[in-house]
Formats: sequence, structure tokens, C-alpha cells
Amino acid sequence: METLLTDQLFTDFRNLVYDQSGIHFTEANRPILESRLRERLRLVKLDKPQDYLELLRKSPQELKDFLDSVTTNLTRFYRNQGQFDALAEVVIPDLVDRNRKKGKTKISLWSAGCSTGEEPYTMAMVMEKNLPPGFEYKITASDLSLKSLMFASQGFYTEMKMEGVPPQDIERFFDKVGDGYQVRDTLKSKIAFDYHNLKFDSGLRDVDVVFCRNVLIYFDAPAQKNVIDRFWNSMSNHSYLFIGHSESLFGLDTRFKFMKTESAVMYTKFLD
Ligand SMILES: C[S@@+](CC[C@H](N)C(=O)[O-])C[C@H]1O[C@@H](n2cnc3c(N)ncnc32)[C@H](O)[C@@H]1O
Repeated sequence: METLLTDQLFTDFRNLVYDQSGIHFTEANRPILESRLRERLRLVKLDKPQDYLELLRKSPQELKDFLDSVTTNLTRFYRNQGQFDALAEVVIPDLVDRNRKKGKTKISLWSAGCSTGEEPYTMAMVMEKNLPPGFEYKITASDLSLKSLMFASQGFYTEMKMEGVPPQDIERFFDKVGDGYQVRDTLKSKIAFDYHNLKFDSGLRDVDVVFCRNVLIYFDAPAQKNVIDRFWNSMSNHSYLFIGHSESLFGLDTRFKFMKTESAVMYTKFLD
């Protein structure tokens, strides 16, 4: 297909996306940016990318829609199962043990870049199954994609999307509705879905567990470091950070410590 953008315009769009979100389009990803841009041009009925660039600079709503359109939202329930095993077998027992001593009964979790909800709902199922009586939890699930968040907050998944959810979890946490499954309110009520751009401070504090998986992969190193530093400030003094299977903090100057369990690797902030 003929290229849509001159080199200069590609640089302009790429810089705008990067400045606004941290998402970094390399030259190799140029066709993806161009195809998403074509779609937006069609929707707003503009022919020239230059005019669209002007619109993005004037309209905060169009900027949000454009950023939404350039995100990749692939996800699934129990993605990288080993990390959920580590949550159940290592993280929850440790937090429960420490919090019990301090008289703290609430555990706070954050799914940062939650996409269409499969990740925070999986976190919630693991918490429900493993948190002992007397403890509560809440999950903040945030994303830059409003479309994904709307989908997530509905909590309705077709049969195909349910792949990987054990039958006993379906039985316990979902109702069969039409051609799919509806997350029950018992689970949904534990999750607050929130529009948030990781480029900025979330305002969250004292979070005990952060999942930010398969998000940093779209950022370059300086943008990754900014996000990771902000996580540090949002997390409690004894807390855990999970990043994607193919992601690493190696080479980034961070205060997190690497930890390896039988089933997963993660990062810790242990100050007390
Ligand atoms: C590939 S999905 C990962 C979903 C889930 N964490 C998982 O691992 O299955 C990446 C998500 O990160 C979100 N994202 C990308 N840049 C973001 C930013 N700057 N702020 C918040 N979310 C962002 C995208 O909208 C997308 O939903």
C-alpha cells in the first residue's frame, strides 16, 4: 500500500504519540501507525494527515481517541499462569503474614494497562480463592484506552475469550448469559476501572501489588524508567511488581529488587 505520511509527518505523529503516552513507534512499526491513522482519517472525514495533526493539537477528545486507536489491547485470562501461581503461593501469604502483624487487613492491587479486563478479573479470582477470612482487597484497573475500559467494566466475555478459565472458576464467578459469560457482581465490585495515562502520576499510594504486563514493551527506555519510578512512589513499603514475561527492568536504573520464585520472576520494594 502507498505510504500515507512523508518522513516529516511520520516524525510529527510519532513524536506526538510518544510525548502524550510514552508509546514509541519505530520505523519498523510505521505501517501500523499509518493504518490506524487511515482509520481515524476516515472516521473524522479528513483527507490530509496534516489537517488531522492540526485537529489533534486542538481537540483533547480527538487526541484521546487517536491514542486509544494506536494501542494494542491483546490480553487473555490467566495470561502467564506462573505469575498468578506466584501471587497465590508467595505474594498473598507474605502480605497476609506481614499485615496481620501490623493489624492491616486490606490489600491493594493495581492492574496498570488492564486492557479489556481479563487481567484484573484474573487477579480478583486469585484473591478470592486464596485470601484468608478477615482480609479484604481492592483492585484498581486502569488504561489509556477508553474503548477497552468500557468493555472491561461490562465484564461480558464470549465463549472464545473464556479459554484458560478453569471450569470451577466459571462456575463460581460467572453467569452464563446468551452466547457468553457475565462476571458476577461479587467479583466486579472489587474492581474500580479508571481512565489513566501512565505518563502521569496516578495518585495511587500504598499499593501492595502492581501488575503492569505487556505495556512497557511499547515504550522506549526513558519512558519505561519514568513509569517504573512512578510505580515506586505508588507502592507500599513492602510490595511486589509484576511485569510481562518478555519484559525486564535490566539496564534501567531502578530501586526494585529482582525476585525469582518457582513459577515466576517479579520485582520487590522491600523497605521495612
Ligand atoms: C497488550 S495490552 C496488555 C494487557 C494486560 N496487561 C496483559 O498483559 O494481558 C497493553 C495495554 O496497555 C495500554 N497502554 C499503553 N500505553 C499506555 C499508557 N501510556 N497508559 C495507560 N495504558 C497504556 C493499552 O491501551 C493496552 O490496553
